[in-house]
Amino acid sequence: MAARKLEPETLQRSLQTRHLGRHIVYYEQASSTNALAHALARAGCAEGEVVIAESQTGGRGRLGRSWDSPAGKNLYLSLVLRPDMSPPEAAQLTLLAAVAVADTVHAFVPQGLRIKWPNDVLLNGRKVSGILSELATEQDRVDFVVMGIGVNLNYRRHAMPPEIREIATSVLEESGREVDRRAFTKTLLENLEQHYLEVCAHGFEAVAECWNEYARIEGQWMQAKIAGQGDVIGRARGLDRNGFLLLEDTEGILRTVLSGDVSLLAGPQKRGC
Ligand code: BTN
Repeated sequence: MAARKLEPETLQRSLQTRHLGRHIVYYEQASSTNALAHALARAGCAEGEVVIAESQTGGRGRLGRSWDSPAGKNLYLSLVLRPDMSPPEAAQLTLLAAVAVADTVHAFVPQGLRIKWPNDVLLNGRKVSGILSELATEQDRVDFVVMGIGVNLNYRRHAMPPEIREIATSVLEESGREVDRRAFTKTLLENLEQHYLEVCAHGFEAVAECWNEYARIEGQWMQAKIAGQGDVIGRARGLDRNGFLLLEDTEGILRTVLSGDVSLLAGPQKRGC
């Protein structure tokens, strides 16, 4: 079956959102949809503007990594938001996006779904989606957020580069069925809008609950690599009110993890010898 393109006209016809995706900028090939969305936001585009590309030549990942972005198989989407929030509160949006992606993937693959803090979506232990949110601030308020979402949809494991083959997967690999990328994108934008409006109107609590259900981290031993601060080992004690990870370290001190990578541990581990 020839892969259908994600052209905006067809997508928008069925899209049931009020703000998100009402205007979509579409590229056959882009450097990075995040970079392009950033430029649009700086130039004053409205909230809800979406950039979609069939492929990216410089897809950006978290922590300076790259995001593998072959043509016509997956989803590479960036969204501009202009929430009335302080910069620390904007961390909530990253978790919100993970919940919206997880809800959407769940409609295609109901088993084996998990969120890994902050916003990796895993299927049967392998990464199916990554989210990169980039923030611009003005004094102590958020000016805009670019929410970049990559989801592996019809990406066959044998076609993935060797360095990600063992740790990544796709909806097709896990469900055995080719994904209609338009239907997936429509549902994702609708889920994103629903959770976003909820957070803006009623706060982070309801979305945090959904996140906790997908992540199931309470009490888990974890190791967090924190840029510039080394490693923290501790037991997960949930999220703070902005969505930062709380770890109780081996001395019983509650540590807040603002960013970085985490891995699950079997139990407490002593450092040094
Ligand atoms: C991660 O490292 O897990 C985050 C990956 C985010 C990738 C997406 S693809 C669409 C958007 N454009 C980018 O350049 N990056 C994000």
